[in-house]
Amino acid sequence: MSAVPTVPGTDETATGKSATAIAVRGLRKSFGELEVLRGIDFTVAKGDVVCVIGPSGSGKSTLLRCVNRLEEATSGTITVAGAEVTDPDVDIDRVRRRIGMVFQSFNLFPHLTALQNLTIAQRRVLGRDKEEAERIGREQLRRVGLTDKDSAYPAQLSGGQQQRVAIARALAMDPELMLFDEPTSALDPELVGDVLAVMRSLADDGMTMLVVTHEMSFAREVADRVVFMDDGVIVEEGDPAQVIGAPRHARTRSFLARVLDPAAAELSELTDDEAGGALST
Ligand SMILES: Nc1ncnc2c1ncn2[C@@H]1O[C@H](COP(=O)(O)OP(=O)(O)O)[C@@H](O)[C@H]1O
Ligand SMILES: [Mg+2]
Repeated sequence: MSAVPTVPGTDETATGKSATAIAVRGLRKSFGELEVLRGIDFTVAKGDVVCVIGPSGSGKSTLLRCVNRLEEATSGTITVAGAEVTDPDVDIDRVRRRIGMVFQSFNLFPHLTALQNLTIAQRRVLGRDKEEAERIGREQLRRVGLTDKDSAYPAQLSGGQQQRVAIARALAMDPELMLFDEPTSALDPELVGDVLAVMRSLADDGMTMLVVTHEMSFAREVADRVVFMDDGVIVEEGDPAQVIGAPRHARTRSFLARVLDPAAAELSELTDDEAGGALST
């Protein structure tokens, strides 16, 4: 018998906590005639880090946006922290409060300092008083390595620092899980490492994370599971070393070849004539 018994017929434990953070079943999403998610099933266990990889346009952002209902699923069900977000009667604001979301663009208020960017939602959404919100805000700025930047405005910060403020802002709301949509894609290469280091430390602290990323070394080292999506379906998923190191499907292999070595992949896709021409110039 396990230490924390589950309630029969559910995945709820006797402590009232669910062992499943996100469950997606038969998810389909169309925009007009275009079906961009064509039957997605996957589960994220509490405390797990799942990285979603795949070519542009494969539906990764749409999937993430369905999880906190920024997009409405066309069919299927999504359960987050025990609440069914696809239920029309769900209190979606209450569910969203448990989900931290970090986008490619940082979406900080330009006229507010870093600390003010962190306190505004705490006060308005969680009703914390100024003092408590600032204390928690400073704590989270320290956690992302920006202790001394509390009174800096976004324009005075590098892209990497702004993204770390955005992560701290999400953390200040005490989320149960975090969704990341290509959090480092807009950054200069030399700024990517600091953001990934913060994400890695969050993972080490046990945060449940669903991360869309092209950073294969991060996925390989930090993820518990990697999901490869193409054309609205999950082509394969599994252990990072297997999916990235020894992919089973040709589509995964060709995607990884392009991501890991774009120049070589481009050359190998050229015909011999073209390649000869390209090499001789
Ligand atoms: N609001 C929308 N309206 C119409 N089409 C959309 C919308 N959002 C995304 N799409 C289309 O859905 C497909 C998947 O997009 P997206 O989820 O952003 O892919 P990814 O994040 O993997 O690049 C693309 O063809 C995109 O053009
Ligand atoms: Mg996207």
